[in-house]
Amino acid sequence: MASLFSLSLHIFLFLLTFTHLCNSKTTNKEYLKFPLLHKDPISSPAQLLSSDTHRLSALFSALHDHRAVKFPVISGASTGSGQYFVDLRIGSPPQSLFLVADTGSDLVWVKCSACRNCSNHSPGSAFLARHSSTFSPHHCYDPKCSLVPHPRPAPRCNLTRLHSPCRYEYSYADGSITSGFFSKETTSLKTSSGREAKLRNLAFGCGFGTSGPSVTGASFNGAQGVMGLGKGSISFPSQLGRQFGNKFSYCLLDYTISPPPTSYLTIGGFQNDNVSISKGFKMSYTPLLTNPLSTTFYYISITSVYVSGAKLPVNPSVWSIDELGNGGTVIDSGTTLTFLVEPAYRQVLAEFRRRVKLPLVEGPTLGFDLCVNISGAFRPSFPKLSFRLAGKSAMFSPPSRNYFIEAADRVFCLAIQPVKPDSGFSVIGNLMQQGYLLEFDKDRSRLGFSRRGCASS
Ligand SMILES: *[C@@H]1O[C@H](CO)[C@@H](O)[C@H](O)[C@H]1NC(C)=O
Ligand SMILES: *[C@@H]1O[C@H](CO)[C@@H](O)[C@H](O)[C@H]1NC(C)=O
Ligand SMILES: *[C@@H]1O[C@H](CO)[C@@H](O)[C@H](O)[C@H]1NC(C)=O
Ligand SMILES: *[C@@H]1O[C@H](CO)[C@@H](O)[C@H](O)[C@H]1NC(C)=O
Repeated sequence: MASLFSLSLHIFLFLLTFTHLCNSKTTNKEYLKFPLLHKDPISSPAQLLSSDTHRLSALFSALHDHRAVKFPVISGASTGSGQYFVDLRIGSPPQSLFLVADTGSDLVWVKCSACRNCSNHSPGSAFLARHSSTFSPHHCYDPKCSLVPHPRPAPRCNLTRLHSPCRYEYSYADGSITSGFFSKETTSLKTSSGREAKLRNLAFGCGFGTSGPSVTGASFNGAQGVMGLGKGSISFPSQLGRQFGNKFSYCLLDYTISPPPTSYLTIGGFQNDNVSISKGFKMSYTPLLTNPLSTTFYYISITSVYVSGAKLPVNPSVWSIDELGNGGTVIDSGTTLTFLVEPAYRQVLAEFRRRVKLPLVEGPTLGFDLCVNISGAFRPSFPKLSFRLAGKSAMFSPPSRNYFIEAADRVFCLAIQPVKPDSGFSVIGNLMQQGYLLEFDKDRSRLGFSRRGCASS
């Protein structure tokens, strides 16, 4: 998800007060666990593609124009499908809201309503701020207010006025905007041991204004906000990291499996205790890289690409982050498709064309460059795509359903899109991540991944 705002690297972490409903002590082993919901399985690849493309082109022009000052982040909200959601309970008494889980942005925000008599609001359609006894906007003079981008022209802050809320305006790559009061609130969380815990002073955006395709209308898929899971200090895992540990993990369920397994977003601990101790469980690790221009994204490093075991002769410099902060590869839960920079994309495409045994569907289908007709195939098989990532034996070899999607009846297309190398970067989208347990460990600056560990519960 796309923040056109770059946060300072030196932002302090929030001091969080944490109290349990029952007065027991938190143990280090305890962590938070949220079911991840996939509300609307991809029903229209055409819609998915056009929205993805639209968003990215906006992203790249933004990058071009404001390279030095702003750094956009990829938004999942704009795709309108292929999204994953988390149920956040916020306020006193708690109000339940669905948020898009997005590793490509930092801000946590919800749609807010200032209604007093809210009888015309259906439950869960917005956060009713006046119905919570613990809601309060940060004062504009509060140091925390400097952590969010402000509307322009910057509102004047009057120190002596009690009610001078911190106004934020957060923009996404396609120009979508959420604006309102940067606030604090109590959230009710469920820990891994099943206990309810209350976290006070979660910093979040109380959004009174939203505009743009990413965050309004049907394309927002009925969500009431975004849970930013990015690397920056105001993201949800960063705020909770002090208490539970500076890492989080998720498994994105494979929507093609029926019935789909439940998957979780966990903050602090492991995805599943049983998996971490079970024999034979092995996680592969690749370092998380730092791009000084983006404190939000999770950058990883691709060292080579393979198609059906053959290493492609891609110049390694294609994958690197240049001195301007361009390039590199980001792993993002909020982007559906995968994007590869041009020279690499062309090579991957050519190799797939060469190796695919199924009849090609001629002419571009729904904007995809390579589609095959599986009508005549008894058991269609596709060439295998693998990425070697930096780190010891960090081979990422997803199953073909992670990159061949049924774009039309019996027509499967390679769900990868090209990106211009001088203005963009590669993105491993959520489709490509399906079926993997992914662990984002900020303290150790590494991303762990495993194809085991998702199947439980
Ligand atoms: C709230 O508004 C509804 C109609 O909009 C009205 O019927 C009801 O009496 C109001 N309740 C209060 C407490 O004002
Ligand atoms: C600040 O607020 C105080 C109290 O409301 C008011 O008296 C004062 O004029 C305000 N100052 C400015 C510069 O607006
Ligand atoms: C772990 O395994 C035990 C016994 O096999 C089971 O009762 C428990 O529910 C499992 N926990 C999870 C998180 O799957
Ligand atoms: C796929 O192949 C079948 C014959 O095997 C043909 O009837 C059908 O029209 C083809 N579909 C497309 C989209 O080309």
